[in-house]
Amino acid sequence: MSAILSPRPDSITAVPGGVPFVAPINSSDDAFNQARADSLISPKFYTTDFEAMDRIDVSSVQAEWDQLISEFRSDANKDHFERDDAFGAEVMALPEGLRDEFFDFLISSATSEYSGCVLYADIRAKVKNPEMRELMGYMARDESRHSGFINRALKDFNVGLDLPALRRTKAYTFFKPKFIFYATYLSEKIGYARYITIHRTLEQHPERRFHPIFRWFEQWCLDEFRHGEAFAVLMKADPKLQSGVNKLWIRFFLLAVFATMYVRDHTRPYMFGALGMKPDEFGFQVFRITTAISRQIFPISLDIEHPAFRAGLESMRTSFEGVQAAQARGGLLGKLQALGGNLKIAATFVRLFLRPVHRHALPDDVRVVPAW
Ligand SMILES: [Fe+2]
Ligand SMILES: [Fe+2]
Repeated sequence: MSAILSPRPDSITAVPGGVPFVAPINSSDDAFNQARADSLISPKFYTTDFEAMDRIDVSSVQAEWDQLISEFRSDANKDHFERDDAFGAEVMALPEGLRDEFFDFLISSATSEYSGCVLYADIRAKVKNPEMRELMGYMARDESRHSGFINRALKDFNVGLDLPALRRTKAYTFFKPKFIFYATYLSEKIGYARYITIHRTLEQHPERRFHPIFRWFEQWCLDEFRHGEAFAVLMKADPKLQSGVNKLWIRFFLLAVFATMYVRDHTRPYMFGALGMKPDEFGFQVFRITTAISRQIFPISLDIEHPAFRAGLESMRTSFEGVQAAQARGGLLGKLQALGGNLKIAATFVRLFLRPVHRHALPDDVRVVPAW
């Protein structure tokens, strides 16, 4: 354990300009400010066109829909999110670098989980369509459990989040329903891929499990998988969402979600070091799983194995780190350097967006089983 929790894992090669990747969190106020912050890589809260959501008709996918709703109704994870005695004293003894990054990870995970809870609960409250109301109620139930469970882990360290206050004060991004579908489908499936990849690694190396929360990931990821299935079925109900110009939107969201995750995970070298993983290897494993799953409903996928794709992500990561260092330096020069870095990130994004993609026919059966 001590070797794994060494203050400077081998995977850390450089921290640019001596700027820490993540800000230290010393109080609930720090945690709250971090959860509320709006940066390129921070989790966002969403709102949508509730009248359009109300008009969604699932009759063309009724069989898949009924099966899915019966899975939600049976609530397999009803008793899963109960804590055991492992929480408590054991979780306090983390070295500084790891502790800061682990807090950052927990805060951003709790914020994403809660973002889902808020969106699904808002849709449920504002639509009359009984099918949508039932589905959104189940998903809000799950995300409320997930965010609450992470928040209790933060409270053990006295850095818990005031989630209702976050709901009242965080900025909301408006997305039309189709963009909610693309973004949320991907964030659910990538959430599954992240949790299962961490779980599989720790299954092989239980000595690296530096916090009890990781023991919950195997069952947990099945909730996220099912939420993703719900959006796949909803998208299948409207075939326009998989054709024409929308294929470009799918490409955009795939790239945005992958790039954000890649950059964000590289801000946590101590945490990935403690788990014995390299952020780029972890990222590509998660991209492979997400890409394989997304063929259920997306007629295109990114060529993630091409060296130019990896090089583009690396370029965005180094530019992002340069922006962070420039912002920390401040002054006019710092501002100009940050602007230059952001322009470079945007240009790289466009270049990756224009790369050739894989095209495939959609399967007749939209449903996929969580087999990773
Ligand atoms: Fe969740
Ligand atoms: Fe979810």
